[in-house]
Amino acid sequence: MARGRLFLSILLGAVAIGTLVVVALWIWSEMLITRAYPVAPETASAGAPAMAAEGRRLGKLYGCTGCHGENLQGKVYNPNPRLVRNYAPNLTLAAARYSDEQLAQAIRQGVRPGDGRALWGMPAQTFMHLTPDELSAVLAFVRSHPPAGAPTPPQSAGWRARAAVLAGALDEPRRAARGRSRPAMDLGPDLARGRHIARTVCSECHGSDLAGDDLEGGPDLRVVGAYDAEAFATLMRTGAPISGRHLGIMTLVARDDFKVFTDAEIADLHAYLSARARALDAAD
Ligand code: HEC
Ligand code: HEC
Repeated sequence: MARGRLFLSILLGAVAIGTLVVVALWIWSEMLITRAYPVAPETASAGAPAMAAEGRRLGKLYGCTGCHGENLQGKVYNPNPRLVRNYAPNLTLAAARYSDEQLAQAIRQGVRPGDGRALWGMPAQTFMHLTPDELSAVLAFVRSHPPAGAPTPPQSAGWRARAAVLAGALDEPRRAARGRSRPAMDLGPDLARGRHIARTVCSECHGSDLAGDDLEGGPDLRVVGAYDAEAFATLMRTGAPISGRHLGIMTLVARDDFKVFTDAEIADLHAYLSARARALDAAD
């Protein structure tokens, strides 16, 4: 009898402690999600309306339309349950509320204007490398949409997303801004154009240093060493790799978005990525 009671008390104690730990972690993650993050000034301004067409092309390459919808009115952007934010919001409504500087802060710093919350799912760490001209064109494109459509439903974060928040997921753009994420290899001025494209377009899924990203599933882009210029252009425009496999999301982004690359951009990208593969081979 006494033994039974002792066992019961130990069990109840363990359940109580476990519950407390879970509640404490939940509250802590909620604090990280709702806290106001520091934000730096931005000088960007939207380009003339004539720049909106180039902005649309860049917005495709950067994935703005892929996540926020072709008409920028917002959509469920990623069914991956590990990602907290299921909705990429309606940018036509956001543009009507925000100044150019505030839009630039959202895009390049990943912080929501107004309440300063971290925008999780916005790959600001890749957009911080946009040149002023590129950002101007993207802003002209966003501003070319009059407010339309409905606001997206409120976001909610499940326990898996909260675990990622506790592990620092929301701080990624700020870590990158402090120079704490590994940069893509610098191979000199002749290959700088290709490096810039890789950093602003490919690093979202292949990692800041292009050495692979576990969460997004993109491998080390060293694989481009096996592609000649023609095979690489085919991969970029159709999503078909040399192995003939279907590459899932990679095939989809190539068909939907990378088809707007110019021939010169594909050649620059191939020159940089194959030189990077050779440099890594030489270092082995
Ligand atoms: C991988 C998906 C993804 C891509 C690519 C992406 N966004 Fe977002 N964006 C999001 C998500 C998700 C949010 C909302 C995050 C939140 O509420 O925490 C967001 C938020 C924003 C906001 C703030 C909106 C508001 O209502 O406060 C702006 C502005 C924005 N994105 C612009 C852009 C632009 C411009 C691009 C392209 C340069 C872009 N985004 C690319 C997913 C994405
Ligand atoms: C939206 C995410 C995403 C973006 C953006 C993206 N990739 Fe990928 N990529 C992937 C994923 C995921 C795989 C792995 C697919 C698999 O093996 O099933 C992949 C695979 C690849 C491969 C391997 C092909 C092979 O032979 O196995 C190459 C090369 C590649 N990507 C190049 C690029 C380049 C260059 C860019 C930028 C222009 C880019 N990717 C942008 C997600 C992406």
